[in-house]
Amino acid sequence: MRKNIVAGNWKMNTTIPEGIELAKAVVAKSAEVPSDVKLIVATPFTHLYPVAQVLEGTAVSLSAENCADKEKGAYTGEVAANMLVSAGCEYTLLGHSERRQYYGETDAKLVEKTKIALANGLKVILCVGENLEEREADKHFEVCKTQTESVLYNFTAEDMKNIVIAYEPVWAIGTGKTATAEQAQEIHAYIRKVVADKFGAQVADDMTILYGGSCKPSNAKELFAQPDIDGGLIGGAALSADDFIQIALSF
Ligand code: 13P
Repeated sequence: MRKNIVAGNWKMNTTIPEGIELAKAVVAKSAEVPSDVKLIVATPFTHLYPVAQVLEGTAVSLSAENCADKEKGAYTGEVAANMLVSAGCEYTLLGHSERRQYYGETDAKLVEKTKIALANGLKVILCVGENLEEREADKHFEVCKTQTESVLYNFTAEDMKNIVIAYEPVWAIGTGKTATAEQAQEIHAYIRKVVADKFGAQVADDMTILYGGSCKPSNAKELFAQPDIDGGLIGGAALSADDFIQIALSF
């Protein structure tokens, strides 16, 4: 049941024409990727609908990078879950560290966002991970436990089928510093245990847990070879279709 996933998070990069070209290049190369590896691209809101047209009928899925915590109404600048679905999204990222750090995203907000995303039929990729200070203070297990529990313990085993966790140590994002395969594996195994403590061994075993943070073609193989790492959430390297596909060929 556990899926291998490679998801590209484009963040706030590319114009719409550039995004369409990137999506086309990913689709063109996706035939090389075995069918048991799921490819996802997460694009800025403005790109979702045109990129959905490129992905239509292909095996590549579309994700948003964020979703509102309200259903609809007077929330200027927000984008609702049902709008994402109507734009062609199957997934949304939630709780990316950049949203937590720069936009005040809290675990309480993430509970609301996850509820609304799931209720509208979106699958959720929930990001967790410690920052450098927390890692240096040896608090990484505690931080990941709290982030995972505070959000996911509000959901059911059935909901968990539509949730993926991405472990992204903040100190490894965009820094070129990757967590070693051992560092990533020990946290992934721990997060899986946090899931098992509430939902049981089967749900935890079926859970896809991705690694993110300077994942690239040169280190993906070693990371994906770890028993609890089921793929990657890729930032910078996802802006190159060649690198992105190379990463997807690393299982
Ligand atoms: P980088 O791969 O650029 O380090 O970004 C990782 C990330 O934040 C993906 O969500």
